[in-house]
Amino acid sequence: MTEKRVAVITGGASGIGRETALKFAQKGDRVVVADFNAAAGEETVSMIQAAGGEAIFVQTDVSKYEDVEALVEKAVATYGRIDVMFNNAGIGRVTPVPDLDWSHYHAVINVNQHGVAHGIMAAGKKMRELGIKGVIINTASVFGFLASPGTFAYHATKGAVIMMTKSAALELAVHGIRVIAVAPGAVDTPIIQGYKDSGQLASMKAKVMGNKLTQPQQIADSVYLLSLPEASAINGSVVMADEGYAS
Ligand code: NAI
Repeated sequence: MTEKRVAVITGGASGIGRETALKFAQKGDRVVVADFNAAAGEETVSMIQAAGGEAIFVQTDVSKYEDVEALVEKAVATYGRIDVMFNNAGIGRVTPVPDLDWSHYHAVINVNQHGVAHGIMAAGKKMRELGIKGVIINTASVFGFLASPGTFAYHATKGAVIMMTKSAALELAVHGIRVIAVAPGAVDTPIIQGYKDSGQLASMKAKVMGNKLTQPQQIADSVYLLSLPEASAINGSVVMADEGYAS
């Protein structure tokens, strides 16, 4: 019998991360749910266990390298391996550039950009050490390509995620480790509700084919597909999971 895969999912307490955790567990993988928010993260674990799956929660601030390194260590100490690292935790809110305060700018960079860098480095190192031909999947966004008002810092981070993905894929391929980014458009999660007051939520929704928000389960399905060995030719790619988000 082949050993079960182990998937580490950051931002696993909510939205895309929670749905992805549920998906991997439902498919028989062991899941390590990581998030800043302990109560909601534990809730994801309870949902998985109630459905007969295996999971643990590790409270993690992805903006701190030592936290992400400890997360990867905990996954390996608990389940013996790490096959999938989904660097997905993210934050964002709408603030026009002239009103942007530095604390907000740095918070977004620290979580969305440095958080992904930390996950790539910690998981890449551990997979190489254990000789595991794993996959690292990073959540980018259509906002890594397209400008939109009020999300200056967010664009910077998502552009960075795209280039970090390509660069890490180039270096880790020799170890059989793939690195991919998934780029959603407008997904129905709490993060996007913060865009409501500025009117940006309605305009984002209108850009999705069919004038609707993508459901987080759809992104979870895409991430799961990309993690499979059958997707072995997909490496260093940014996979649009945006339902045709218009530029
Ligand atoms: P969400 O707000 O539902 O989930 C984000 C999760 O990240 C939360 O559980 C939060 O506690 C966690 N988190 C925030 N800071 C953290 C930190 N320092 N350490 C650990 N965990 C932290 O939002 P959603 O939509 O599920 O976001 C997931 C990813 O998808 C983000 O990277 C976001 O930028 C990206 N995305 C979302 C889109 C959308 O329309 N919802 C579109 C494109 C990309």
